[in-house]
Amino acid sequence: MIDLTEKVGLPVTLTRVEEGWKLEIGEGVLHEKPAVRLISDLKPVMKNPEANTPQQLYWMYRNVRLPEHEHQIVASGLRYDLSVFNPGVLCVDGDAKDGDEWNKAAGHYHPYVPSGVTFPEVYEVIYGRMIFLLQFVEDVFAIPPKITRFIILEVKAGDLVVIPPNCGHIAVINNSNEPVVTSNWVARAFDSQYTPIRLMRGGAYYIVKSGDSYDWERNPSYPEAPEPEVVKGHEWDNRGLPTGIPIYKAFFEEPKAFEFLVRP
Ligand SMILES: [Fe+2]
Repeated sequence: MIDLTEKVGLPVTLTRVEEGWKLEIGEGVLHEKPAVRLISDLKPVMKNPEANTPQQLYWMYRNVRLPEHEHQIVASGLRYDLSVFNPGVLCVDGDAKDGDEWNKAAGHYHPYVPSGVTFPEVYEVIYGRMIFLLQFVEDVFAIPPKITRFIILEVKAGDLVVIPPNCGHIAVINNSNEPVVTSNWVARAFDSQYTPIRLMRGGAYYIVKSGDSYDWERNPSYPEAPEPEVVKGHEWDNRGLPTGIPIYKAFFEEPKAFEFLVRP
């Protein structure tokens, strides 16, 4: 059991369970019923749709908040979520080989606001290390999309990741031992758009196991894609958001810094 209270800014522990890892959220903290993503849910976006293990990939805990913060959070138009990802490789019958994909999220875009761009988002890596795939497109609903930039962002605990407008994002857990915990603030008024990524069978590149490290492979469903740029988390532009304190707390200290998430 790993106590994340200081890092999250809320009473949260990371706990080993039969099938990977879960979060225990302290009494008195409100949240929606946790939702699990199974490997069967990811079939349409996997390099190898035959992969069947591990069964449980990650858990999402949406709309986490203290009762005394409810009013301010709802008034801001934002929502705070936590996620926990199991480590490992998406493979057939537990037999992980080089070229198999590292565990990942389904991946999605956000819808457009009237000004013609899509909602941004901010993630915080609370525990572990991982990759964010950032797929910048001209139009999130075009099939196939015109990709203008593809970033492999390597991040670790303590890093913030601002997802800019018009940018698909896929979390990838490129290690076999440690789970990863993230939090995020995002506008509460929209539904994430999973279909465009699903129709393209994932992002433009798959992140695959290469020994203990990773490599990338082109997804052939995309007729064109720029070469990926590998970027370190600390090099990413985070819109001047406060660092060094949990983003749950940062929001209450500097709510104005988060306004761009609802009015990009
Ligand atoms: Fe998102």
